[in-house]
Amino acid sequence: MKLDSTRSYKDAAQYYDAFANNSDLGFFQTMAKRIGGPILELACGTGRVLLKLAEQGYEIVGIDATSEMLDIANRKARELGDEITNRITLHQGDIANFDLKRKFPLIIIPSSFKFNLTTEKQLECLESVKRHLDDGGIFILDHYPSALKPVHDEWKQGPSKLSDGTKVSRTLTSHCDYSEQIQRFTAAYEIEFLNGVKDAFVTSNAQSLIFERER
Ligand SMILES: C[S@@+](CC[C@H](N)C(=O)[O-])C[C@H]1O[C@@H](n2cnc3c(N)ncnc32)[C@H](O)[C@@H]1O
Repeated sequence: MKLDSTRSYKDAAQYYDAFANNSDLGFFQTMAKRIGGPILELACGTGRVLLKLAEQGYEIVGIDATSEMLDIANRKARELGDEITNRITLHQGDIANFDLKRKFPLIIIPSSFKFNLTTEKQLECLESVKRHLDDGGIFILDHYPSALKPVHDEWKQGPSKLSDGTKVSRTLTSHCDYSEQIQRFTAAYEIEFLNGVKDAFVTSNAQSLIFERER
């Protein structure tokens, strides 16, 4: 199976927010208040974190590889009005290799460092961060170790109800390849639209497995 960390985000971008865990928002808002902006967010996705920081008053630049995720971020920004939209700049690009020709006092990468699938990509990402960080600036890499995960796992999420009444459930399976340090995921989506029509599709992606001792 070809390794691709973004495939699932192209196919299921419109359902990303329905399953997002927002428990980290308060942390990023507190850190923004403490350090200040402008802020650079790597792998900003649908703008889950980015929009909250823009609403808080900070100028924020986001990079993400998936145009479908950025389209949603742009749409949500427009819904918040011009004042907030004007604080936001979004770029499509690779977090392992970017050059914005400017520096930031704060760079964040919520829930996404593991999409750098190899050690080389992780180091390239850190090099890119270093080039964009002010002297004395802060880089926040939130990290959730995966070494204790079982080799195979399966769990169900939802149903979650969207604002238009659509109900979405998904069954996730994960398979850990400990020799390659890769965790592969599939997500089987089941959609029920308000008019009763049903749809189903499967997406896949991969993340690097980062062991506790590497933290
Ligand atoms: C789990 S989502 C996180 C989105 C956002 N940071 C959040 O916390 O809601 C992962 C995001 O990483 C993006 N992504 C994965 N690999 C990437 C890469 N190499 N360069 C840029 N973005 C990438 C995907 O397109 C997706 O939007």
